[in-house]
Amino acid sequence: MSQPLRLGIAGLGTVGIGVVKIIQHQADLLTMRTGRPVTISAISARTRNKDRGVDLSGYAWEDDPVALAKRDDVDVYVELMGGSNGPAKASTEAALAAGKDVVTANKALLALHGQALAEQAEAGGQVIRYEAAVAGGIPVIKALTEGLAGNAITRVMGVMNGTCNYILTRMEATGQGYNALFDEANKLGYLEADPNLDVGGIDAGHKLSLLSSIAFGTQVDFDGVELEGIQRISLEDIKDAADMGYRVKLLGVAQMTDRGLEQRMSPCLVPADSPLGQLEGGTNMVVIEGDSVGQVVLRGAGAGEGPTASAVLGDICDIARGYRYPVFGQPAASLTAAPRAKSATPAPYYLRLALQDKPGALAKITSILGEAGVSIHRMRQYDHQDDIAPVLLVTHATTRTELDVALTAMENTDVVTAKPVALRIETV
Ligand code: NAP
Ligand code: HSE
Repeated sequence: MSQPLRLGIAGLGTVGIGVVKIIQHQADLLTMRTGRPVTISAISARTRNKDRGVDLSGYAWEDDPVALAKRDDVDVYVELMGGSNGPAKASTEAALAAGKDVVTANKALLALHGQALAEQAEAGGQVIRYEAAVAGGIPVIKALTEGLAGNAITRVMGVMNGTCNYILTRMEATGQGYNALFDEANKLGYLEADPNLDVGGIDAGHKLSLLSSIAFGTQVDFDGVELEGIQRISLEDIKDAADMGYRVKLLGVAQMTDRGLEQRMSPCLVPADSPLGQLEGGTNMVVIEGDSVGQVVLRGAGAGEGPTASAVLGDICDIARGYRYPVFGQPAASLTAAPRAKSATPAPYYLRLALQDKPGALAKITSILGEAGVSIHRMRQYDHQDDIAPVLLVTHATTRTELDVALTAMENTDVVTAKPVALRIETV
């Protein structure tokens, strides 16, 4: 029998316990598939005496994840605690320094320290694998790094935060507002300990920055992601967008342009009949476009015990099989520091305006748009509410700069009664 692959697992929460369960329940399958047993030598978490619903008595216990990461009987350090700094970073660095391979689900750690950790790993001949860090159970890192390795990637986009997609799709389905659905998601245990990571777009931004690095051969640049969360999305926007044939999604888009790398994670409109438009609930979807393959759409569970542990096991099996490649698909030293695109690629925009119901109001608005170089594609006016006329506009593709000039001019008129809402419409 071949030598077992011996794991040290730090973090026994949702993901960690999911990993332990698969290793316990699928031992024979894992041995058959990798040609060697996959075993657990030692574990760590904050609290030792906690009933975690599985038998952990056969594994050595370490209070300190750094000590766990350095143990002689550990070949692969599995970091499932979370956090961009603190014990997750210290123990990962310690594992690499001690010559261990690392598997992690921690997107925050890699989004902020991915380049340094990749350089450390590759200098020592180790690998870091992190399939579970992006879109949970969807094997998107593998798809980009392996299956699509022969393509120049032109664009990566997707819905990468299940909590936000749950809130947005439930707003449309139930007619309830953002705050009520935020509370519902919280009761269901969907939200991160710091909810702003989810609804502020940060968690999804971390994920997008990792995909960008693999797709475009660039150093991870989370600070270069233009971020906006879903907090300002109102029920009115959801209903009105639906009426115009769109759905609102927290959408990540990364593309290399002649102006530099564009990375955006923000609420956008997508056609309701597109695969992204039809994505319901907590599910994730990643769309990858390559010069040879065209468009590839991956869909699946982006979170939860089973799906996330499934992705962690995929990485562990690769290491057990001796299958190794650089952290971001090409040597870390060859990743470029791409300039950030200072402006987004032109796109159509959806505008919702509250206009005073008086002669010439609409003429003022259309003339402001015309003067700013923004062309109107579609327009709809709804029944007046008191003396206010709600007006929806869809523009032709325009730059954000031109649009902002028009929006400022509109706010300075005496006919616009509230701050106009503008949402980008993404071509998908
Ligand atoms: P979790 O349920 O909160 O579990 C975290 C675990 O880490 C707990 O067992 C905790 O110990 C342990 N821990 C925390 N700080 C520690 C420390 N200083 N020293 C030792 N142990 C410590 O988290 P999770 O949902 O499993 O997430 C783990 C990682 O997977 C995170 O990076 C997360 O972003 C990522 N991820 C999660 C999901 C998901 O669906 N949950 C999906 C994709 C990626 P105690 O149990 O004793 O408190
Ligand atoms: N909080 C994340 C989400 C799950 O809602 O998608 C972990 O990536």
